[in-house]
Amino acid sequence: MAIHKKNQLIGLDIGSHSIKLVEIDDSKKGRILKNFGIVGLPSDAIVEGSIKEMEIVSSAIKDLFKNLKIKNRNIATSISGFSVIVKKITLTNKEESELEATIQDEAEQYIPFDISEVNLDFDIMSGGSEPEEISEEEGEKEGSEQMEVMLVAAKKDIVDDYVSVLDLAGLSSIVLDVDAFALQNAFEASSDKPGCYALVNVGAEELGINAIKNDISLFTRDSSFGGSQITEAIMSQFSVSFEEAEKIKLGETKKEKDKGILEEIFVSVVSEWVQEIKRALDFVAGTYPDETIEKILVSGGSCRIPDFRKYLELETGISVAELNPFANLIINEKLFDPRYLKYMAPQAAVAVGLALRSIGDK
Ligand SMILES: Nc1ncnc2c1ncn2[C@@H]1O[C@H](COP(=O)(O)OP(=O)(O)OP(=O)(O)O)[C@@H](O)[C@H]1O
Ligand SMILES: [Mg+2]
Repeated sequence: MAIHKKNQLIGLDIGSHSIKLVEIDDSKKGRILKNFGIVGLPSDAIVEGSIKEMEIVSSAIKDLFKNLKIKNRNIATSISGFSVIVKKITLTNKEESELEATIQDEAEQYIPFDISEVNLDFDIMSGGSEPEEISEEEGEKEGSEQMEVMLVAAKKDIVDDYVSVLDLAGLSSIVLDVDAFALQNAFEASSDKPGCYALVNVGAEELGINAIKNDISLFTRDSSFGGSQITEAIMSQFSVSFEEAEKIKLGETKKEKDKGILEEIFVSVVSEWVQEIKRALDFVAGTYPDETIEKILVSGGSCRIPDFRKYLELETGISVAELNPFANLIINEKLFDPRYLKYMAPQAAVAVGLALRSIGDK
């Protein structure tokens, strides 16, 4: 029988480029990093958030569990991208039970898919009549006629893909989260400063933005940008395979004359990302004129692209730092090389956020 506390979950971030696994133990002294692992996937295994190669992905997951000798089979994982809609909507105030009954109809206009094709979830952010007495929660205007609801809609086929791939690997999906919220969870656990922040995750195929204030999400957006744009540009520019292009991207190229071309590719792709982020932040500024974003925290493997942080800072005028999801965890340096963890930190953010979910969490 597995020796793990009943409510603990393994955080598994199944990305299109790589799968990241994090296990965290709760102890009297605090949260301990117990396991971290990453395994790469071939480029066609997951495309636009949907799993194309079930066998390849599930055996990669199985290998990861075997190599790290993980016993816990209960998983928190997440989905993102085109098939997931996360949207804050404003409705006339109603009780939760009433909202539950009408959310399908309310949601319909915000969802670009047939309502029968999606799984719906919601969270009341502010407002919401209390059946008995008026709640005095912070930020709630007494007698307010409006309520804010965070709507999450995920296409059923994508959800089924993720549940099936875990099933195939002999695992149970206990929590199915959204990348943006897992990222937020990792950020909140690693920082104790309240305020207004923008969390930006640049992976291989997705660029996710989550603007938050005092642990509440103001705005999220996922766009189809990421490190694969660079890999693809390198593939066509140098006529090399995907694997070869990934190596060139990471600086394993020998030819001096190629460096200029590489730099041009970096600059042109990174400026697209920066413009996309800037558009989102401008939108946030327009919607919440009283809020000022103090800092942008970047994560995801592609935030390591040289000068990305510098350009982002220059264009937005906001200071940029790397998100370190391991910051408040107890690390045994005999088990984890601090330099390796520091390098992996931004790429591990979503997985850490997932590992912090426990059974019973939404
Ligand atoms: N040092 C580095 N320099 C540049 N790019 C890097 C570096 N390390 C990793 N990357 C890129 O980061 C990407 C992988 O990041 P990550 O693991 O966050 O993506 P993912 O979660 O698998 O993808 P997605 O979430 O978009 O589906 C790849 O495109 C990879 O080439
Ligand atoms: Mg990712």
